[in-house]
Amino acid sequence: MAHITKATSVKDWFDQRIALTKLWNVLAGQYWIPKNINFLWAMGVILTVLFTVLFVTGLLLVMYYKPDANLAFDSVNYTIMQEVEYGWLWRHMHAVAASVIFLIIYIHAFVGIYYGSYKKGREMIWISGMLLFLVFSAEAFSGYMLPWGQMSYWAAQVITQLFGGVPVIGDALVEWIRGDYAVSDPTLTRFFMLHVCLLPIVLIMIIVIHFYTLRVPHVNNLEGEEIDFELEAEKYLSGDTKNSKVIPFWPGFLSKDFMYVSFFMIFFTYLVGFHFGFAMDPINFDPANAAKTPTHIYPEWYFLWQYEILRGFFFDIGPMKAADLGALAMAFAGISLFFMPLYDRSDVVAPAHKRKGFFVWFWLLIIDLIILTVYGKLPPTGFNAWIGFFSSVAYLALLLVVLPVITIMERKGNK
Ligand code: HEM
Repeated sequence: MAHITKATSVKDWFDQRIALTKLWNVLAGQYWIPKNINFLWAMGVILTVLFTVLFVTGLLLVMYYKPDANLAFDSVNYTIMQEVEYGWLWRHMHAVAASVIFLIIYIHAFVGIYYGSYKKGREMIWISGMLLFLVFSAEAFSGYMLPWGQMSYWAAQVITQLFGGVPVIGDALVEWIRGDYAVSDPTLTRFFMLHVCLLPIVLIMIIVIHFYTLRVPHVNNLEGEEIDFELEAEKYLSGDTKNSKVIPFWPGFLSKDFMYVSFFMIFFTYLVGFHFGFAMDPINFDPANAAKTPTHIYPEWYFLWQYEILRGFFFDIGPMKAADLGALAMAFAGISLFFMPLYDRSDVVAPAHKRKGFFVWFWLLIIDLIILTVYGKLPPTGFNAWIGFFSSVAYLALLLVVLPVITIMERKGNK
């Protein structure tokens, strides 16, 4: 056992037993962050704050929510919204945070792409980040079902039906996921379990892994400069803080992030108070009705680009049926960004504006995603259907063909 002496302070008492100072230094006091970064590197901390908001408001909502197909709609729309004190506030905060977290996730991920933060030793940060994106998508989808309104019901119908496209076991798989032949009470209760229990546990585990993956390669910086963190940390600790290229996570980095988080929370509070409507579909204020299909079914804004890729392939090609092509393309789109470190064949880590071809590619990808998102909400008829088709093909081509080609050219040009 460790040699325990009479403690000189409360801190010393804890240090002798659980090495508190050492733990603090490893986690924050001597965890080094480059100085050369800007507000775009605050997105990770904003995401952590948003996840906490979702967790806490979710706990409050689950106290009154009833996971039963006969009671769910009323428990949300009457009990929580009208009877429970401040229930409306927790619901609006939860819905707005769920929507905004995707906006910040997209910004965070595309900042990573712009600065090449997914390569040269940072691949595991990227992969764990993409896993977070996938599990967050499942978390958002399962949560969307819980109010058991028309959109909850019909979105569940469309998405679960997609699994019917899996060869041989498709129909059995759909029935297994639904827990019934059609979307019904057992479907609601299993998605409730996923939303409030299993997926949050998985998310917390992956967030911890994501943080851990940052430890060895450290975060990137505005120039993609390779920093010798040990040397720069020594400089900082020896008192030469001015010439050192790094600052500690606390107080240097996090105190500045608190300022960005505060600005963000002003924006968030404004949305919760005055613009919560964008996070709640009006059709979902009608109770689920299996006998009445809404004229137009679409997901929340953050899934529209994937939904448009699903609908983009609206005609059979050779032996492949349109529905199977669309489902395959959408399944690929969902996991496509996982493979960024593979499509990018160049090992240059630099901001996109210093990599000509990549810069053009980056903005084409963003424009394409915006087009997919806009058209994902429109009816897929006539001209719209063709825009959907061409922008879906463009998405696949940009990742699978254009990026490898321009990055191979970049690599060859650098030799
Ligand atoms: C709730 C989800 C997430 C949380 C809480 C989170 C948190 C963080 C934090 C705190 C950082 C360090 C500071 C910063 O660069 O912002 C970071 C870095 C990073 N994250 Fe995430 N992240 C999440 C999702 C994602 C996703 C979806 C991706 C994309 C695939 C991703 C990719 C990255 C990358 C590449 C870095 C390193 C940035 C660099 O080296 O400059 N993260 N994340």
